[in-house]
Amino acid sequence: MTTNENKFQQIISHAKEYGFVFQSSEIYDGLSAVYDYGPYGSELKKNIRDYWWKSMTQMNENIVGIDAAIFMHPLTWKASGHVDNFSDPMIDNRDSNKRYRVDHLIEGLADKLKEEGKTQEAESLLAEMDRLLVAEDYAALKELIVTNKIVCATGGTSNWTDVRQFNLMFSTEIGSVAEEADKIYLRPETAQGIFVNFLNVQKTARMKIPFGIAQTGKAFRNEIVARQFIFRMREFEQMEMQFFIRPGTQKEWYEHWKETRLQWHLSLGVPREKYRYHDHVKLAHYADAALDIEYEFPFGFKEVEGIHSRTDFDLKNHQLLSGKKLQYFDNEINQNYIPYVIETSIGLDRMFLLILSESYEEETLTKEDGSTDTRALLRIPAKIAPIKLAILPLTKKDGLPEIARQVMDECKNYFRCFYEEKDTIGKRYRRMDAIGTPFCITIDHQTKEDQTVTIRYRDTMQQERIPVSKVKEIVLNNIM
Ligand code: GAP
Repeated sequence: MTTNENKFQQIISHAKEYGFVFQSSEIYDGLSAVYDYGPYGSELKKNIRDYWWKSMTQMNENIVGIDAAIFMHPLTWKASGHVDNFSDPMIDNRDSNKRYRVDHLIEGLADKLKEEGKTQEAESLLAEMDRLLVAEDYAALKELIVTNKIVCATGGTSNWTDVRQFNLMFSTEIGSVAEEADKIYLRPETAQGIFVNFLNVQKTARMKIPFGIAQTGKAFRNEIVARQFIFRMREFEQMEMQFFIRPGTQKEWYEHWKETRLQWHLSLGVPREKYRYHDHVKLAHYADAALDIEYEFPFGFKEVEGIHSRTDFDLKNHQLLSGKKLQYFDNEINQNYIPYVIETSIGLDRMFLLILSESYEEETLTKEDGSTDTRALLRIPAKIAPIKLAILPLTKKDGLPEIARQVMDECKNYFRCFYEEKDTIGKRYRRMDAIGTPFCITIDHQTKEDQTVTIRYRDTMQQERIPVSKVKEIVLNNIM
């Protein structure tokens, strides 16, 4: 097992042990590729969502938000192309009855080749795969799998079926009487809720092109191979923004959002070298240009966010199938047109995994007597940390808890605080490090004399005495 795989397993265990992520329905042995967020996980997830929402809406006067329903009229998915095109080429292994996405199988081999130092071989394998995917040459894709001796991870055999397409949408029925029920889909992307509301929003919020509509919410995909913890899930959350523009300006806006979104990632303190752009060779059915922003997870560079130039594909098809005009009158050029769209689409769960991967560290500490100790910590940026401040009275008596409670009362209205008086102060610090709390303050006997407390910084473990009256201000300055 490589060190990176070890690190990834440590992150998964840490996420469970400290209440970030649990497997869904764990007492029934779980549900594959579905996860629940625990007390600190739900806080972190909410903070990432809020940080994205603020950067999109509050910081951009020409972007507004909506919150559309998960269920949508079935024609939505016909118009968007998802009924006909939202499928992946899959292949089954006849011996194990396991189904795989063709690109995942081939990418798996490419990763292995890279680990063995055969980078050139891996690159040409991936290039050949891309070429065949674009050509939709499924017979040749199967041939590529067979000639490269790719075997099933479960059974170890290469007894493969032909490559076939499988739709990824979940369906259910709406209506109370079975015979009258209509088949509807659980949305596979949040974007369509934005497209069908384009005119409602444009008119009611009196938006002028160029303008954007942002939305966060659940999406559902029947992913065949669900791997890598919360990286690929069947129920997940997206944060999407559709930016409506004048036709012909898509290249410049594509460049704008490509750069702006990368800057957003960097604003969370992640080094530039951990990111790269990946231009799509095989474009989705709606796009005339597309790229992924990839992050170097412990299991390699993988997509976190997509930037897509979606042309007028969606609005045009909704106009066609609904019979309602979805046009905009641009009074600067005196013309009616269907706007073009640049989309930014990021997976919230993937961003969460990125933050865990980036911030998890097992640090070796050398004590004064020369012996060593380790501490597990999450260096989560203070502005999105689940808990901002831990308030720790040194003892349970002598009036210290009362002072600590006063600080708690003063701060809890402004940011998430945590109060604890049990265990040694060292143990309490370590627990806070493990959930990524950037600041701890300790109230001790000196506090009663001079109204100062000890503040301890998670990343450096340095401590200093500060006036108790400054605590709120210091934390606020670091989380804005
Ligand atoms: N509206 C465009 C769209 O949905 P996408 O590239 O299919 O584009 C956008 O998805 C983002 O959603 C991805 O970059 C990824 O972060 C996230 N995502 C997609 N499928 C996912 C899954 N099965 N589990 C977790 N996140 C997923």
